[in-house]
Amino acid sequence: MTNNNMSKAAQIIQQGGLVAFPTETVYGLGANALDPYAVAKIFALKERPSFDPLIVHIASFDDLEQLTSGTGENVLRLAKHFWPGPLTIVLPKSDKVPDIVTSGLPTVGIRMPDNPTALELIRTSGCPIAAPSANKFGQLSPVSASHVKKQLPDVDYVLDGGATSVGIESTIVSIEGNTCQLLRPGFITQEDIEQAFPGTFVFNQSKPEKLVSPGLLKSHYSPKKPLYILSEAGKSLPEASGLILHSVANSAHTAGKVIYTSQTGNLVEVAANLFAALHTMEEDAHVKNIFIEPVVEKGLGMAIMDRVKKAAYQYNNHTN
Ligand code: TXA
Ligand code: MG
Repeated sequence: MTNNNMSKAAQIIQQGGLVAFPTETVYGLGANALDPYAVAKIFALKERPSFDPLIVHIASFDDLEQLTSGTGENVLRLAKHFWPGPLTIVLPKSDKVPDIVTSGLPTVGIRMPDNPTALELIRTSGCPIAAPSANKFGQLSPVSASHVKKQLPDVDYVLDGGATSVGIESTIVSIEGNTCQLLRPGFITQEDIEQAFPGTFVFNQSKPEKLVSPGLLKSHYSPKKPLYILSEAGKSLPEASGLILHSVANSAHTAGKVIYTSQTGNLVEVAANLFAALHTMEEDAHVKNIFIEPVVEKGLGMAIMDRVKKAAYQYNNHTN
């Protein structure tokens, strides 16, 4: 990252433009969070429905105070433990946050990303940055600058920070008193929060009644080709198939093109390489159908399978 690129990016943010930038999870499509006109451009470029609120990214705890109408002791402890990092906390918003950012909700999702380029962009711009993932609505999340340019060629600027390290989106929680609701599973798991704060939070397991977090949409994160979750072991797939596996132990499966997200089923590696593997399959003209091995839905496996099931949803038969 040259200083030049950074000042140019910050200038675009200050002038109400859009900058795609790396975070530790996925690339974000950023605008000045306090400028409703700039934020409106995010929805237009992404073709994102206006009911889907944005996450506001901050670089210091001082920013937190101006964006929320009050943070309890538990929230501050949670934020201080996991920030900078892949945890978004949904909090009561202050009047400073434009309604377009929160889609009219009285709450705002906030996180401090653990990526030097993202933090520097926020600091240099001098404002909090509202950013969804830098993809067209419903499509694959971008984990490199080239993924962003593929889907959003008209973005004002892309800050290239290389491949992202975590690879899947942040965990989203809402906190009321000591009740914690997981709105979107992510890299930080319920177990991580429980271990860091034993006995502090009661996890509300019930699904929110209305769509408070479109991360809860059944179809999302989808490649432009049919994607199927493998159900049987040792399958020979047609030549025109792409196959994504998570361990060489499963190499009995064969297909025209095989990508391993990990050699050993290591879930941190699987998460880091998941979207890149899907992008590669999407881009490969020889691949007509994509097959992906499932992982066990425990710990980080929950977030991985959340993305995989939503990516595959529209290509599978459903009764509901
Ligand atoms: O890791 C991430 O979270 C990435 C990077 C760029 O920070 N961002 C990201 O943003 O995944 P996006 O817009 O693709 O997903 C954000 C999710 C949406 O499903 C949105 O509904 C939810 O956050 N969200 C934002 N504000 C909310 C609020 N006030 N209440 C409930 N959900 C909220
Ligand atoms: Mg997204």
